Formats: sequence, C-alpha cells, structure tokens
Amino acid sequence: MATKVKSAFVCNDCGADYTKWQGQCTECHAWNTLSEIRLGSPARGGKTLRSGFAGAVDSAVKTLADIALDEVPRISTGTGELDLVLGGGLVPGSCVLLGGEPGAGKSTVLLQTLCKLAENHSALYVTGEESPQQIAMRANRLGLPTNKLEVMAETSVETVCAIAEQKRPKILVVDSIQVMHMEEVASAPGSVSQVRESAAMLVRFAKQSGTVLILVGHVTKDGSLAGPKVLEHMIDCSLMLEGSSDNHFRTLRSHKNRFGAVNELGVFAMTDKGLREVPNPSAIFLQRAEEISSGSVVMIIWEGTRPLLVELQALVDDSHLGNPRRVTVGLDQNRLSMLLAVLHRHGGISVGDQDVFVNVVGGVKVLETSADLALILAVISSFRDKTLPQDLVVFGEVGLAGEIRPVANGQERLREAAKHGFTRAIVPAGNVPKQPIKGMQVIGVRKVTEALDAASC
Ligand code: TYD
Ligand code: MG
Repeated sequence: MATKVKSAFVCNDCGADYTKWQGQCTECHAWNTLSEIRLGSPARGGKTLRSGFAGAVDSAVKTLADIALDEVPRISTGTGELDLVLGGGLVPGSCVLLGGEPGAGKSTVLLQTLCKLAENHSALYVTGEESPQQIAMRANRLGLPTNKLEVMAETSVETVCAIAEQKRPKILVVDSIQVMHMEEVASAPGSVSQVRESAAMLVRFAKQSGTVLILVGHVTKDGSLAGPKVLEHMIDCSLMLEGSSDNHFRTLRSHKNRFGAVNELGVFAMTDKGLREVPNPSAIFLQRAEEISSGSVVMIIWEGTRPLLVELQALVDDSHLGNPRRVTVGLDQNRLSMLLAVLHRHGGISVGDQDVFVNVVGGVKVLETSADLALILAVISSFRDKTLPQDLVVFGEVGLAGEIRPVANGQERLREAAKHGFTRAIVPAGNVPKQPIKGMQVIGVRKVTEALDAASC
C-alpha cells in the first residue's frame, strides 16, 4: 500500500496549525496566512500490538525508582548572571532559546561566553547573519580569546547538522533560527514552517548527540518570538534579553526552564567593551537622587530566586481630559486602575480627576503583586506632595477589600533591604518576622488605611 504523505496547514503569523486549509486563522484572526507543510512520513513497521510489542513492553515501561539517575554535571558559562538565569549552568543535551529585539546584545553575550567556554569545551558558532570576519573583529575588539572558538557561516540546517555530526562540539550556537532554512520545506526562511522544521531538526540532533544547543531568536515588535508557539514546546529553556537603546542596562529573564526557576533575572550593562554582568543589581536600580521628591518609594520585588530593590515613582497631576490618563511603565495598567479603585473605596481618597503616571526606575518589568502597596503609597505621596522617608522600603499585595495580603519570601526581602541600609519597612502583618531583623523597624499592616497611617500620608 502506498504511504500517504501527511500535511498540515500552519499560520505564518502565530504558528497555530490546522488539518484543513481555511481563509482566516481562528487563533490570531489574520487572513490568508495559512501555508501547507508536509509532515514526515508515518512510522513504518505495521506490527500488530499483540505480536510485535509483547516483549518490548517490559523493557520500555519502568517505575521512576528503577530509572538510573546519571548526575550530569552542568557546564558553567563563566558568567555568574547567566549561570543564575540558566539555573546553575548549561545542561548537556539541552536546548536554550535566547530571544531579544535586534540590537539587544544577543550575539555579543554569546560571543563573549563562547570564546571563554571554548577554552575548556569544544564549541561551534554558526552564524547566518554576520560574516566570520565581522565576528572575529568584534572578538578582537572586545579582547576575547580567539584561538579555540570555531565559527562557520551557514544557513542550511542540513549542512549544519552534517558538520556538527562530524565535529561533535559540546556547545552549538545557531545565530539566528530565523535565517535558517531546510531544503525540503518550501516556504521562505523566517516563516513559521521553516523556523519550526529547522528548530526541530537541530533539537533532534542536540538530544541525540548530547550537545548543548543555543538558538538565537528575534522577537517581533509586540515582544513575542516569531513563531513562538512552535518553538516553545521543543526547547528546555527560553531566555529573553531585554533593554531599550536609551538605557545601557540589559535584563536577561528566563520564561521557561526545565532545569531551574523561571522568571529568574540576570542584569548586564552594555559598555564599549561588550556586556558586563552586574552582580548586585539592587545597587544600580537604587541610585536615587540626593533629594528625594514626593511620589518616590523603594519596593522589594522577588525575581526568580532573589530579592531586588527597585525604586517606584508616581506622578499625580490635575487632568484636563474628560478621561484622566492612567499610564504605567514596567507595571500592569489594569492593576493600577484596580488599586486606584481600592484606594477610593477603602482609603477614601479619590484621584478621579487626576492623571496618574507610574514608572519603575531602570526599565525593570514588575510581574508580581508585591508591588501593590508600594504603588498605593507612591500615588498618595505624589497626590499629597508629601515625601516618604528615604530609609523606607515597602512590599505587599493589596486585595479588593482593601486588605493587605502577605507575599512569599518576606524574611529574605527584609534582609536584603537591611543589607542596603534601609531601616524602616511597611509590610503585610503576615510577613512580620518572628525574630527582629537587626537595624530594621518592621511595621505590619492589615488594611490600606493602616498603611497610610504608618507612612504618615
Ligand atoms: P548585537 O549583539 O549585535 O545584537 P543582537 O545580536 O541582539 O542583534 O549587539 C549590537 C548592539 O550592541 C549595537 O547596538 C551596539 C552595541 N554594542 C555596544 O554598545 N558595545 C559593544 O562592545 C558591542 C559589541 C555592541
Ligand atoms: Mg545578532
């Protein structure tokens, strides 16, 4: 019987797949974006279950306890912040996706890391965007060791896999996945089907050979990786390098990690000598003005496995618009609207006729709710034009009933603040430590009104 070649239809914009062609993608609602891709031929064999697999079942199915655990040593990248985000280093046979906007510094951070790693581990850097000369020039300019790292300019995945098969590097970097292509896929490089098939082949090679695969991926304007859905389930660890061009700090965050904590944050600074790691990020985000103005407060957020002290600023000003503005940078705008409603209902303070702007200093994006209390105090401080004490730190979640809810890792947050010289903290009552923290006066609060009293606002 002739084997039927299976095909699927994939949306070039969002990566959703369908068994039949249709004019509009039901996921992203784009028109005419579906293209056909051929799937690999079905597995051959055709043994009946009863006869063919009877013996195989015993060897294939095991309890977890029977599986031998080989402790695979992680490969340290030599950069503390990168190791931290990876959860302790690179795991052999794992696939890491490094995403970021063009110009974020993905190629730079990989070149710096790989040049040093190549001293002890064989490494191959496949470049599809820059020429080997450009890479060599950059490595020389940055003063990196250049005699060990092997570089190849190639965009064909088949060739990359064939060469990697012979050379067997321990670490393989492909910069970037969007320029890679496979002969047997008909669509253009960068399309979802090319990205998906190319990544699948590279990942297969990495898993079979135990190579660490690092894929570079460009993000689109809205911050998602091109073809995000198709890549995310294949890889083990997805890192995102973020930062704006007007700011020389770059943050590296893990969005998915099968071998460590997610949302771990590493901080780098882009200098004329490449990317430098910033081992104590709280110190840089806390460079406050000599004279503190109203609307500024320091909050303690939790990033992955460590606390981070960041300044939050609010500006509340008379609005001339019928619909006053609610603008946030680094925070969720809906959260701001919600907290302003709580403040009105349970704190008796209305800012309905005011524009409210909130900014997290240093370009940090805050994803957790422990910033709620800081946000409320910053808004009130600006509204009343009353400065909050310079040595005050704040954290805590605010509920819709105006209650202040405890957050995780309260002790560690307070200890970090004490390390940086803060002496007063307003925190949820549930987070007040049983043992006092040296040099720190901790005020526990249960309601928004109590928090306002504690901050004398
Ligand atoms: P690059 O690593 O090429 O970005 P990506 O691979 O993510 O597209 O980084 C390029 C940017 O970094 C560019 O805007 C210049 C800046 N840069 C420096 O400021 N200093 C340096 O030493 C290097 C190498 C780059
Ligand atoms: Mg690049």
